[in-house]
Amino acid sequence: MTDRTDLTLAPANSYDDNEIVNASANPHIEQLIAARLTRRDTLRGGMGLVASTLLGGLSLSACGGGDDDKPKAPALGFAAVAKNKLDVVTVPEGYQVSILHSLGDPLMFGDESWKDDGSESAESYNRRVGDAHDGMHWFGLSEAGAFQAERSDRGLLCVNHEYVPAPFGLHPAGRTAGAARVASEVDKEIYAHGVSICEVRRGSDNGMAMVRGSRFNRRVTSATTMDFTGPVKGSALMATSFSPTGTQTRGTNNNCAHGYTPWGTYLTCEENYLNVISRAAGDNAKRSAKEVLALNRYGLPENRKSPYLWETAGSDDLYARWNSSVTGAAATADYRTTINTFGWVVEIDPFNPAAAPVKRSALGRFNHEGAWPAPAVVGQPIVMYMGDDARNEYIYKFVSKAVWDAADVGKGLAAGAKYLDEGTLYVARFDADGSGAWLELSHGKNGLDATATPYAFADQADVVTHARLAADKLGATKMDRPEWGAVNPLNGEVYMTLTNNSNRVAASATPTGSQLKPDAANPRYYEDSFANADGSSRTNRGNPNGHIIRWREDAGRVSATKFAWDIYLFAAQSDAAVDVNLSGLTAVNDFSSPDGLYFDARGMLWIQTDDGAFTDVTNCMMLAAVPGQVGDGGTATAAGGMATRKGANASADTVRRFLVGPKECEITGIVLTPDAKTMFVNVQHPGEDSATDFAARKFGSAWPASQTNAAAATRPRSSTVVVTRRDGGTIGT
Ligand code: FEO
Ligand code: CA
Ligand code: CA
Ligand code: CA
Repeated sequence: MTDRTDLTLAPANSYDDNEIVNASANPHIEQLIAARLTRRDTLRGGMGLVASTLLGGLSLSACGGGDDDKPKAPALGFAAVAKNKLDVVTVPEGYQVSILHSLGDPLMFGDESWKDDGSESAESYNRRVGDAHDGMHWFGLSEAGAFQAERSDRGLLCVNHEYVPAPFGLHPAGRTAGAARVASEVDKEIYAHGVSICEVRRGSDNGMAMVRGSRFNRRVTSATTMDFTGPVKGSALMATSFSPTGTQTRGTNNNCAHGYTPWGTYLTCEENYLNVISRAAGDNAKRSAKEVLALNRYGLPENRKSPYLWETAGSDDLYARWNSSVTGAAATADYRTTINTFGWVVEIDPFNPAAAPVKRSALGRFNHEGAWPAPAVVGQPIVMYMGDDARNEYIYKFVSKAVWDAADVGKGLAAGAKYLDEGTLYVARFDADGSGAWLELSHGKNGLDATATPYAFADQADVVTHARLAADKLGATKMDRPEWGAVNPLNGEVYMTLTNNSNRVAASATPTGSQLKPDAANPRYYEDSFANADGSSRTNRGNPNGHIIRWREDAGRVSATKFAWDIYLFAAQSDAAVDVNLSGLTAVNDFSSPDGLYFDARGMLWIQTDDGAFTDVTNCMMLAAVPGQVGDGGTATAAGGMATRKGANASADTVRRFLVGPKECEITGIVLTPDAKTMFVNVQHPGEDSATDFAARKFGSAWPASQTNAAAATRPRSSTVVVTRRDGGTIGT
């Protein structure tokens, strides 16, 4: 989601999204121990048994011993794309772009093609591609219709549809103004959220096309019935008048990034669900002190109206459920707990369209950006890395109780129940000496029990539903907005983007309210000027450009409770001061606000941006990288005076711009086929920032039509693009 509109539909003069609701008094790192990280060879020990499932099989990538016998990512082999503000997707010389699908395209026969006038019926959006393409994954499809991980020419593409961006181009003339929403518009928005699954087949030149009418084509929306599993199944915390027993709910929402499992299921993750939930004035008086504490910590104070106002469209239960207020005699008679039913990781079996999605509660509830697996190793637990995308929130990891058995590939939601319903949730603490600890969020441990203050945890359902409060209690490290994670298939190291944070103050300043001083893992404080379109300027303060942190689990064990970390890359403009541009970025690789992140099976890293601080110079972009490893750099003093640990400087050989998106878009969502010859990339919300005039057909972007027609004046649409090499070669090399 763009940084302008997460919680307010009017563009804000800020590069940040997400309200700050973390008022905990966790300690911050103010000192750095100068000792260098332990030698990488000792830290790397134990990674020799990693079996990557990214290529779908269980291909062993042995990587013990010295550097020479380690598998290496291929060298970058394309000419860097220049920063630009064109209204097209720009790729390197020798590459080509086509559009796979866009907002409103019909998945099935029987519905008309998208018409550029918003006339498509709300109901038809149950069978159309949704809005705001985001996280995405490819699952190879066998002739028998099952998961075939290594397949590159036929697959199911699962795409998240995060939200309905301004200017609401899916309606005839945008969103109808007024205190009460128009029901048919709300219906269309509800169906435009969620996930699309469609069968895709390769054609000539490694290009791809949607298989319209495939029996696998499916929409999951903000109205789809789904089940709860794990600790909250049957908990009073989930009880509503729809499901008094607390075992089901309707809808997934604000599906930002994603995840996938080695058994062949898709994970979609609920991030800014507060966009669609309201709470009435005076509601606090009807609640316990404990409930009010939790509601505030999760960003839903009383008298808060959601920007979308779905609850105003009518008295029907389908609308009323977006009002998370006490209106009935008991939780089983109203929707006071609606907020508790969002913020989860949702598992979908793309190969079984009849199977209801499942909210896997053991993975905790927060603004889930995504859930990224470590490579599965037979006999070892399944591990998922997750971030809570809001300023000053945390990084988490889930470790399954069951250990991986490769015979579970293809077993769908039954395998999900085995690995994702029982396990241990941890939250990360990053220490100044370059070490870190995973802190266990289990009821009855670490003070997480009914005697805890300020929030008493009744049981594990309470802990996972209020994971933020549990993490506060344990002193987790507040981060600069965790976005995507990715695990390097060559050495098991974990990378996570920290997109930006306007809420840091200088190390020498006195913080007020929720402001934070920098710490070693979130070290920069600086000011960056931004040229507005009208010729005025503004100054962004804090960490406007973001960074990418990485860590190596102790002895390479995914279940370790200790790790070593450094900062892989500091995003910056190449002309920034040396203590801002700490990674030495140049014109071929400077960028701002990393968000999407993906390791392909070869170990090439892809970095995508969702930026509002460098967009006076360039549209959002994607870079390719060949990273080193934790500890390959040294120590540094960041702008603002904080000491930190950084990776080796970037060069044109190790980080290079591969793609620039069209006007006012975010580049988010990427996956390569296993043979690395076809790349899918999502372009979200082109033209979101500009004033729109539907009658005059004046839009901030005409993409995707502008990709092939410079004179196009059609409505901008979020889309999935297909990138291939004209010579049929592998991408990026
Ligand atoms: Fe939806 Fe955190 O980006
Ligand atoms: Ca700037
Ligand atoms: Ca994101
Ligand atoms: Ca973002």
